[in-house]
Amino acid sequence: MDHTTRQPQSNPLREGLTNRPVPQPCTVVIFGATGDLTHRKLIPALYNIAADGELPPALTVVAVARREKTDDGFRQELEEATRKYSRQNVRDELWKTFAQSISYHRTEFHDLAGYKTLAERLAKIDEERGTAGNRLFYLAVAPDQCEPIVRNLREAGLNKTRQDSWARVIVEKPFGTDLASAKELNQVVRTSFSEDQTYRIDHFLGKETAQNILVLRFANAIFEPLWNARYVDHVQITAAETLGVEGRAGYYEGAGALRDMVQNHLLQLLCLVAMEPPTDLGADSIRDEKVKVVRSLRRFRTDEITQHVVRGQYAEGAINGEKALGYRQEEKVSPDSKTETFVALRVLVDNWRWADVPFFVRVGKRLPKSGTEISVHFKKAPLVLFNKEASTLDQNVLVIRIQPDEGISLRMQAKMPGTSFRIEPVKMDFHYGTSFGRASPEAYERLLLDAMSGDATLFARRDEVEEAWAFIDTIENAWAAKENVPGLFNYPAGSWGPEEADELLARHGRSWRRL
Ligand code: BG6
Repeated sequence: MDHTTRQPQSNPLREGLTNRPVPQPCTVVIFGATGDLTHRKLIPALYNIAADGELPPALTVVAVARREKTDDGFRQELEEATRKYSRQNVRDELWKTFAQSISYHRTEFHDLAGYKTLAERLAKIDEERGTAGNRLFYLAVAPDQCEPIVRNLREAGLNKTRQDSWARVIVEKPFGTDLASAKELNQVVRTSFSEDQTYRIDHFLGKETAQNILVLRFANAIFEPLWNARYVDHVQITAAETLGVEGRAGYYEGAGALRDMVQNHLLQLLCLVAMEPPTDLGADSIRDEKVKVVRSLRRFRTDEITQHVVRGQYAEGAINGEKALGYRQEEKVSPDSKTETFVALRVLVDNWRWADVPFFVRVGKRLPKSGTEISVHFKKAPLVLFNKEASTLDQNVLVIRIQPDEGISLRMQAKMPGTSFRIEPVKMDFHYGTSFGRASPEAYERLLLDAMSGDATLFARRDEVEEAWAFIDTIENAWAAKENVPGLFNYPAGSWGPEEADELLARHGRSWRRL
């Protein structure tokens, strides 16, 4: 069976939902193909797109890396990884066809000769498989390797978009480590690819529920009138993980939770919640609105950083009854490491809509539960009517569950059945799984398809990335300052972070929502 022409299986629950058009045929060239990302995410994502019948006809993958490998040996590795990490079960027949479209190209990243042979190989693929000169380069490499790769792609003439074909580049995070390095990296990429050709990936934007934030807000008439400082008391955004650094200490030691998750994923979610309605759904209209939010984030002064930001590092503890090492005992972590694995922030969006509404953001590794959610806490109803029956009324809380169990719930007050007048909170709940009868695609599936289709809406634009770093730099610089260094608090693995993070909210009469 040819995966390129397979139609999605008919599913009565999906009737009325439209499938997107299949993108043009192209070659996806993955640099850093022997790495973790290719095995865990990129190849399983491409396989799943194939299984859903949404892969462009004749899609071809050229995997580029420095190690010596044969096509067959590499396909074998990818098959094992895909069977392990794929969202759907791998079907033997489909895998066989799909694997035939993958080949391995060995080169040193700084060696122009390797790019010349790559160019010849791509031209041959165009002839044999009809990929029409369309190329999507995926830089799944550390930032310091981007420069030689984009330079050599240019030297080999592979960066050009022609009238009847295109060349695009996807750049993986981390997109720099501060504003200066992000600018430098942007400059490097720009020497070879225009902004229109550049796709900076933030996989959180590809998550189904993140995309649904705009639909929730702007396709329903009931939320938007309440979505402002007049009715919203505060917003919480939490990304909790039970996982630790998982052998990534080499990268994580120099990054920490603020750079690893807040600069990109969590600020992107915050933007989607806080932005003004865009004029249309065009990539730039949406990104124009998001960048205004990042520009409105109040910058903290060094002497006030502890009032707004708490950082923590996990110590020994237990997760689900299993003993867990402390961060400093993890492999390749310095025994006196100051890297934060948890951060909580009180962020203020200084614009008309959100004046004085705090956005509490927290992210941490080795917490008791994994889950990402946004909760909008509305102001309380006046107590005048019910002050005898209830000394306090709960707030209405709208919870957007990004993962797992994607969905949305609204907490409200109801009268408990019975002859007495007792008011209790209840929940209205929407679950993606049950309403649409279909598992959400993985973020990378959506984003790869978008990049193949030339849709940059769910990718970060240059100014967004730089503005986000400008905000993060104020915090990192305060932490790095010799005087007045704010503490790094320990928390046992398996707890909800340091107590100081609870105090950050308690000082303002609020508390974190339990996931
Ligand atoms: C990555 C971070 O960008 O996102 C990781 O580098 C983190 O540290 C991961 O674990 C979380 O992504 P997800 O999709 O598993 O929630």
